[in-house]
Amino acid sequence: MRTLYCGQLNESHIDQQVELAGWVHRRRDHGGVIFIDLRDREGVAQVVFDPDLPAVFANAEAVRNEFVVQIKGVVRARPAGTTNADLPTGMIEVLGKELTILNRSETPPFMLDVEDHEVGEEHRLKYRYIDLRRPQMYQRMKFRSEMTRALRYYLDERGFLDIETPMLTKATPEGARDYLVPSRTHQGSFFALPQSPQIFKQLLMVSGMDRYYQIVRCFRDEDLRADRQPEFTQLDIETSFMDEEQIMTLVEGMIREMFAKVLEVALPNPFPRMPYSEAMLRFGSDKPDLRIALELVEVADLMRQVEFKVFAAPANDPACRVTALRVPKGGEISRKEIDDYTKYVGIYGARGLAYIKVNELAKGVEGLQSPIIKFLPAEVVLDIMTRVGAEDGDIVFFGADKAKVVSEALGALRVKIGHDRGLVAHGWAPLWVVDFPMFEWDEKSNRWSSLHHPFTAPREEDIGKLESDPGNCLSRAYDMVLNGTEVGGGSMRIYREQVQETVFRALGISDEEARDKFGFLLDALKYGCPPHGGLAFGLDRLVMLMTGAASIRDVMAFPKTQTAACLLTDAPSQVSPAQLVELGIRVAKPLKEEKKG
Ligand code: AMO
Ligand code: AMP
Repeated sequence: MRTLYCGQLNESHIDQQVELAGWVHRRRDHGGVIFIDLRDREGVAQVVFDPDLPAVFANAEAVRNEFVVQIKGVVRARPAGTTNADLPTGMIEVLGKELTILNRSETPPFMLDVEDHEVGEEHRLKYRYIDLRRPQMYQRMKFRSEMTRALRYYLDERGFLDIETPMLTKATPEGARDYLVPSRTHQGSFFALPQSPQIFKQLLMVSGMDRYYQIVRCFRDEDLRADRQPEFTQLDIETSFMDEEQIMTLVEGMIREMFAKVLEVALPNPFPRMPYSEAMLRFGSDKPDLRIALELVEVADLMRQVEFKVFAAPANDPACRVTALRVPKGGEISRKEIDDYTKYVGIYGARGLAYIKVNELAKGVEGLQSPIIKFLPAEVVLDIMTRVGAEDGDIVFFGADKAKVVSEALGALRVKIGHDRGLVAHGWAPLWVVDFPMFEWDEKSNRWSSLHHPFTAPREEDIGKLESDPGNCLSRAYDMVLNGTEVGGGSMRIYREQVQETVFRALGISDEEARDKFGFLLDALKYGCPPHGGLAFGLDRLVMLMTGAASIRDVMAFPKTQTAACLLTDAPSQVSPAQLVELGIRVAKPLKEEKKG
């Protein structure tokens, strides 16, 4: 139906007959001449209809925005003074000779010449098929496709096999709630949708597949955020007989090659690495954004003797941190902004946000301004100023509390101030975070839980103390962080049954529970399981970062809302009583219309 895309037209086509098909982007009447901007996915071309051809002209008069039309015509140069150098097709136009209306359209619910934020997101999601007509959305979908092609190419070249794993399966322990699917043939029993293919890819290694990858959907029922969706896509990878060094080198090469291909960006080689403990200490986060040059500085040792209890108590408690964050030129931060930052750190449990403004350091404490210096000996305050490297015009913030609270609060404040004050360097900052603890103490369930998942291998030297000293065992896990977002994570896996059983015990999982949940994996470990490891990338997150989108919803064709609903199809929805009977299910709550959104 067409000879080329509208967006491909240029001066080389002048005098050629062309056939175009697409949507009427805009129609303008100009003193007896009608202009139609015809749009397809590649761009917009201007088509002119002259009253000389009355039948065609009448057709052109009848079209409205978003009508689908086919046009035959001749390409010509635009008359001098009417060219548009900003448009790729701006030097030419098509003189329309025929126009066929292929389909009509109701007035669309919103204009397509808009930025993401100019239309309510609910509207965009409800009419996603129209939203996806916007060039920005097309570019993102296209980018995503180019990206997965580059990733597949890299892995295919290296002998990785693309193998599918089941969607109807058993719970996989990635730490979120499962999406369950009731079984009709086994009433009262449920499948779980996979939170990741973790166990299956390990089984494929037991099977000798050696190198596996899959671009695969994962399902997690968890609190949603800008970078979290209930179903999302992983690039999932597993290999046998390679250690973490080799795996990190391999996938780092993949990300570098992909960036070079689709963004023409040269990422550092190799990526820097940082132990988890250092990341927490310096940045208060296990996914530090290294584009922001602000750092946390420990000052607990200077505060141990002070009278001021807010600082002295945590300074003397090994489970706590007393930490400073210096913001260069932060002296100009207003009282109101400080109040806002105090509220902000409150989200993370901080009970306050002490600060010192550095007016004129040469004057000693006289040159400082703060509600807390009156509680602190002058020499302590000045020692702190020296330690953080304070200069005139700076502000220094303080957090004093349980280590987790201080890290999260000041870590988040660091990023927020970085963005608020334009302190985020341009460019890409990839990083491997390594040497994670095996376990973290879970206050809620009062037991140790895996920092990654329970199949993550401990360091060889820590195997002996998994049960006696779980808090001091490190794992062989690695996370890839890009500009402060965790884009991927993985580990070497446990491949010996005994070690796996020990880790289950350290996690407080009884032998019975382990058999019930993961018996098939424990069995597989008995039959010649090779050493193996791998990782998974959050593909949506990578696309989001690389396209500069504000949310992963903008890089998914049909995403869900923050409450995990689909506004387009109205899913999830109620089902008929007959279906429930068939499944042997009774809904406890009376059925009622629920508002989604
Ligand atoms: P993990 O749980 O870290 O590891 O997930 C891997 C990557 O997936 C992305 N991600 C998400 N993206 C969007 N929405 C979500 N709800 C979401 N949850 C995770 C992140 C993350 O880095 N099986 C292991 C991998 C392995 O060990 O090989 C796993 O799933 O970018
Ligand atoms: P208060 O004595 O509670 O009025 O606090 C004095 C100053 O210390 C105020 O600026 C508070 O914001 C700050 N502050 C209180 N608790 C903490 C804390 N846990 N960490 C950091 N600053 C705090």
